Amino acid sequence: MDASEIVWLLIRSLIGVLIGSFIIIWLYLRKTYNYWKDRGILYDKPVPIFGNLGFIMRRSIWDYCYELRNRHPSDYVGIFLAWNPVLMVQSPELAKNILIKDFEYFPNRYLYSGYSDPLGTLNLFTVRNPLWKKLRYELSPMFTSLRLRKITELMNTNATELVKKIKRDYVEKNNVANLKELFSMYTSDTVAYNVFGIRVSILNDKPSPLWYITRHMVQWTFWRGLEFTMIFFVPLMAAILRFKFFSAPATDYVKNIFWDIAKHRKEDDTKNENDFINILLKLKKKLNDSAEPDSPPADDVILAQAAVFILGSIETSSTTIAFVLHEIAHRPDVQEKLFNEISEAVKRKGRDVLDYNELLELKYLAACVNETLRMHAPVPYLDRLCAKDYKLDDNLTIETGTPVFINVLAIHYNEKYYPEPEKFRPERFMKEIDTTNPVFLPFGEGPRFCIGKRYGMLQVIASLAQVILHYRIESVLPYTVRTDPYAVILAPKDGLSVNFVPR
Ligand code: HEM
Repeated sequence: MDASEIVWLLIRSLIGVLIGSFIIIWLYLRKTYNYWKDRGILYDKPVPIFGNLGFIMRRSIWDYCYELRNRHPSDYVGIFLAWNPVLMVQSPELAKNILIKDFEYFPNRYLYSGYSDPLGTLNLFTVRNPLWKKLRYELSPMFTSLRLRKITELMNTNATELVKKIKRDYVEKNNVANLKELFSMYTSDTVAYNVFGIRVSILNDKPSPLWYITRHMVQWTFWRGLEFTMIFFVPLMAAILRFKFFSAPATDYVKNIFWDIAKHRKEDDTKNENDFINILLKLKKKLNDSAEPDSPPADDVILAQAAVFILGSIETSSTTIAFVLHEIAHRPDVQEKLFNEISEAVKRKGRDVLDYNELLELKYLAACVNETLRMHAPVPYLDRLCAKDYKLDDNLTIETGTPVFINVLAIHYNEKYYPEPEKFRPERFMKEIDTTNPVFLPFGEGPRFCIGKRYGMLQVIASLAQVILHYRIESVLPYTVRTDPYAVILAPKDGLSVNFVPR
């Protein structure tokens, strides 16, 4: 055989291998994408490789969830996250079974970033059982009423700084505010105290290490968006590509601050009994005492909790505050009612700043926040992973290992529960909401519901009470705003803006 025959043989073999591989992949994808069809389940038409994720980095997952119910107004619908069949549940009755009643079948979330990312996989949001159960129990004392009462004082101090910053930077300079950034500063200053027990004030233009961390966490760049999209929706790829839940600079910063403060705490650990760092240091001891050969390092576990509490505190609350102001900027009637409620409470109490109990008495403000959370739910879906075969109804048994998502927006925009769902009507939340089925899910439901729910609501309400008391909010944007296509949860494109006019 001469050289040209060998080359020809090689080329033919290569073509054979390529065609063979192509056929195998094609058969595999065909079988995969017929998953819902074969079971007689309605499904959203996928495209090869991407499945229903063809929109990523061009449009947001928030928009996808919102539009899915319009395309398929059914109790559940099959979708494909890349090549993975996923069940999207859109009815509160079924959501109740999955999230609450039959939690043992769905104890974990689907998202995952792989063993190379300990902070990403060990935090309370992502961690899987049995460790989750232990952590949830140990971390709950962070949010007792006593502790929240204390933290409200600092929220109020920061809300007062916020009012001054608005005057300095926007009113006096005639600038339009980037609300998402402004309120991330407020939540960043508050979380510095909540997690690390330190007082910082980026709102007062003082350098803050926490702002350095949180700025990184909330920046939805193309690359961070892609990393998160993979971790949330194609975990296998995230693990292979070694994507990280927290960016490298944010991780280093959290590590440095945490161990620096923890070192001093050890020398004097009788103080700050309920301080988060002390709770974590005690947790570390318990984890070490009960460690087994395959247990993750306790240092990684506690650091992961600090990181996720920072992220959890910043992102969702600042988005919520920004959307409340956006909504009331377009509804002067609602705004006046709000102003009256707050100013009357302030007059009654005889001081400008309301305490924990007084803030919780602002029912109309709470209703405005709830209506905003309904329409602009920061987390548009709740993800779970089926741990053992589960009979959903007479037509479908969910197989072990199948991801199940609850489409929160499908429920929040269902006319049966919320007539004229596109209209901002806080009054709906002034009446008792029927809680037989979970029709209001901004904080999730069941044992894995948001651990920071009360803290989150308080920090939103404390800041709004101060801002609305001191400023009239005027709109500078059209009512409908774009969502950020790089974000895996709701983020307004370009941060939202309003004009603040002193009262
Ligand atoms: C407006 C504010 C907030 C919203 C809308 C929100 C929303 C959510 C949602 C939807 C979940 C998933 C629940 C589920 O799957 O059933 C969640 C979980 C979680 N949130 Fe929040 N959250 C907020 C504030 C906070 C705050 C302030 C913190 C921390 C201090 C926090 C920390 C967490 C953690 C650690 C989890 C995971 C809980 C677990 O799996 O056990 N969140 N949040």
